[in-house]
Amino acid sequence: MSQYQIVCEQLKQSPKIWLVTGVAGFIGSNLLETLLKLDQTVVGLDNFATGHQHNLDEVQSLVKPEQWANFKLYEGDIRNFEDCQTACAGVDYVLHEAALGSVPRSIADPITTNAANVTGFLHMLTAARDAEVKSFTYAASSSTYGDHPALPKVEDNIGKPLSPYAVTKYVNELYAEVFARTYGFKTIGLRYFNVFGKRQDPNGAYAAVIPKWTAAMIAGDDVFINGDGETSRDFCFIENTVQANILAATTQNDEAKNQVYNVAVGDRTTLNDLFNAIKGALNKNGVIYTKEPIYRDFRTGDVRHSQASIAKIQQHLGYVPQYEIAEGIQLAMQWYVKKLFEL
Ligand SMILES: NC(=O)c1ccc[n+]([C@@H]2O[C@H](COP(=O)([O-])OP(=O)(O)OC[C@H]3O[C@@H](n4cnc5c(N)ncnc54)[C@H](O)[C@@H]3O)[C@@H](O)[C@H]2O)c1
Repeated sequence: MSQYQIVCEQLKQSPKIWLVTGVAGFIGSNLLETLLKLDQTVVGLDNFATGHQHNLDEVQSLVKPEQWANFKLYEGDIRNFEDCQTACAGVDYVLHEAALGSVPRSIADPITTNAANVTGFLHMLTAARDAEVKSFTYAASSSTYGDHPALPKVEDNIGKPLSPYAVTKYVNELYAEVFARTYGFKTIGLRYFNVFGKRQDPNGAYAAVIPKWTAAMIAGDDVFINGDGETSRDFCFIENTVQANILAATTQNDEAKNQVYNVAVGDRTTLNDLFNAIKGALNKNGVIYTKEPIYRDFRTGDVRHSQASIAKIQQHLGYVPQYEIAEGIQLAMQWYVKKLFEL
């Protein structure tokens, strides 16, 4: 049995109360689904800035009515400290996902990104500390590696941030460490590397690459590649990310706390290969896309290559990614084809 299976069994035997911020978003709603299926009680906090009621409706359709009854939503804003206090009351484990993602959004509007990602983070950290929660796990980001050229990325070796978004995510880590040092409140930061999967939003100017291209291919529209297509990323299927959160939240190992961990597969896929993988997976699902991608300029703030070392999280938390990219892409494409044809 893997460490993850052991922890899931223990949670089923002894359910806990979880707070998931950003619960109506992509990662938050997937955490919600898994936790409810494990018969946990979940409090959700979201202001629907980029999250959607339809994500919650879909989770409701995928769990039993008695499991759905274990979910309570607070519509609130992490920029408001009282909302954070209300949400944290009586909670065992916090999974803090709420933030404004997207490098280009942060370049267009750094003030709004900072308010959610830095002020909101500090509110959540403080409210969780005051509520004496058992653990606090937060969404950090691979963008913190910035301009550091080394591959694979190892947690201790970071460079200079390349965007306002990257600054906010690094500030989260700094605050988290200071809270451990100053108040003895130990947290775990998970540096996600390009997460993808069901319920990742394909719409809007700031959509991530996989849902954006998928929606374009399904609609028969052009697909644009920023740069020469040899830019690479460590794409990580959502179920691996969910696993990392549950392992981090429940770890009993004190040395594993007050740490940041890469969450990825440890693999590297170029945008050109990704284009072909999505096209191939859509083809298997009955969507035939015949156009070639259109190459345009590199995007400001983007790192050229990204690939994680996952040795630290494997060693300290027993994380083993269950899904490689190809399998994840297949599963994601099944979902997008079904969803986008429903609309
Ligand atoms: N998706 C990725 O590849 C990736 C990579 C690195 C880090 N992250 C981080 O993971 C977290 C979740 O990202 P996601 O991809 O699910 O994005 P998402 O946009 O789908 O989800 C974010 C959620 O947070 C909510 N939110 C935003 N501002 C809020 C506020 N002020 N108060 C309350 N709720 C607010 C949004 O409404 C949304 O539901 C974010 O912290 C993001 O920075 C994601």
